[in-house]
Amino acid sequence: MSDSAKLSYKGQEYEFPVITGTENESAIEIGKLRDVSGLITLDPGYKNTGATKSAITFLDGEEGVLRYRGYRIEELSKKSTFLEVAYLLIYGELPTQAEYDAFTKEITLHTLVHEDIKKILAGFPSNAHPMGVLSSLICSLSAFYPDSLNPNQSEEEVNLSIVRLLAKMPTFAAWAFKNKMGHPVNYPDNSLDYCSNFLKMMFALPAETYEVDPIVATALDKLLILHADHEQNCSTSTVRMVGSSQASIYASISAGINALWGPLHGGANQSVIEMLEAIKADGGDAKKYLDKAKDKNDPFRLMGFGHRVYKNFDPRAKIIKQAADEVLGRLGVADPVLDIAKELEYAALNDQYFIDRKLYPNVDFYSGIIYRALGIPTDMFTVMFALGRLPGWIAQWKEMRENKEPIGRPRQVYVGATERDYTFINKR
Ligand code: CMC
Repeated sequence: MSDSAKLSYKGQEYEFPVITGTENESAIEIGKLRDVSGLITLDPGYKNTGATKSAITFLDGEEGVLRYRGYRIEELSKKSTFLEVAYLLIYGELPTQAEYDAFTKEITLHTLVHEDIKKILAGFPSNAHPMGVLSSLICSLSAFYPDSLNPNQSEEEVNLSIVRLLAKMPTFAAWAFKNKMGHPVNYPDNSLDYCSNFLKMMFALPAETYEVDPIVATALDKLLILHADHEQNCSTSTVRMVGSSQASIYASISAGINALWGPLHGGANQSVIEMLEAIKADGGDAKKYLDKAKDKNDPFRLMGFGHRVYKNFDPRAKIIKQAADEVLGRLGVADPVLDIAKELEYAALNDQYFIDRKLYPNVDFYSGIIYRALGIPTDMFTVMFALGRLPGWIAQWKEMRENKEPIGRPRQVYVGATERDYTFINKR
């Protein structure tokens, strides 16, 4: 017999089915709640609300587990490549060699962007934050490929949009950086792998030869895998929400980039380095900043700490912390900020405030330190996150579309003025 949950309200009893996922997560299905009882639920920040059934990513916040399509993040980050993981997330299975070759070839063939993109880029001031530039350029694809506005595209047409996104995002990301630097943009080099091509577009200058450092390319590939999906977070929910109105995939992904930008989400990686730099400039007193974070009258938060879902540890942070040591060691970079980060982490993990609230370092705590060692400037950190998250957003958009999910449209409890009569302006 299947489980159910009962609600009693004003002397009436209502029964709702309880559904259970493949990892034994249970949820009360309340689709009929308002019809039968007149009630809605209220859950700001969706702390208890499942918005969809998804087969893409499993996350157990209590146990610190993260799996893409059933594969552990620890294993994927060690054994796989970013494009293989992208294929896995988007199409559901690891590719065969032939599928992988065809997928990477398709992506390579679409790296070039329309020349007019340069005109759009030139319209941005050089101090524009690269996240704003990136989201605009991604959205502009809907103008260059207007067929994408048709919500009833065939599977092949949708796949073409997916390939274009994966292929052109590194080009846009690198160009957003070049715009900021006042450097000429570099065209893609299709003889290179995904990350090497991106690094070359970022760092090559016409006056010098540029060799991609394989240590840097490999480290970047691993970071992108770690960021590739994270189930129904703020930006992913945004992508699904925008996509649910049948807006184009380019508009949906562009919206996801904007949601990621905020400092409570992907923007935290930039904020972490800025915070660590500020602590260093202030004499390196980690305790002082810990006290600030605990002070309820101080808006300061320990950036890179805490997570809505992880209440034990963030498995990505564990991998990244180890990778930070490895990458800095292999590149021969000594970053004093890494020592401050470790000191801060140690102090926080032993502090009752952080223990009581189950606050642990998240993915963003150490990622910025690696990005910095790879030569990536601070305001490009969130762009790197977006580059990594792209296949996850695409997979979630595709799943939403294939499941024919209804338009996202929450309800509210209205707390404003009740009906009143209009007063003419001269009588107010
Ligand atoms: N520093 C100090 N106190 C904190 C922090 C922090 N970083 N995070 C949470 N708290 C406290 C918070 O003040 C609250 O305390 P109290 O119960 O006394 O009111 C309690 O812990 C619960 O916090 P919350 O804000 O209700 O939790 P949330 O689930 O709504 O927020 C969060 C999650 C990630 C937005 C939050 O922990 C935070 O602001 N962290 C810093 C920003 C950050 O690192 N974001 C990156 C998240 S991981 C990357 C990604 O987005 O995927």
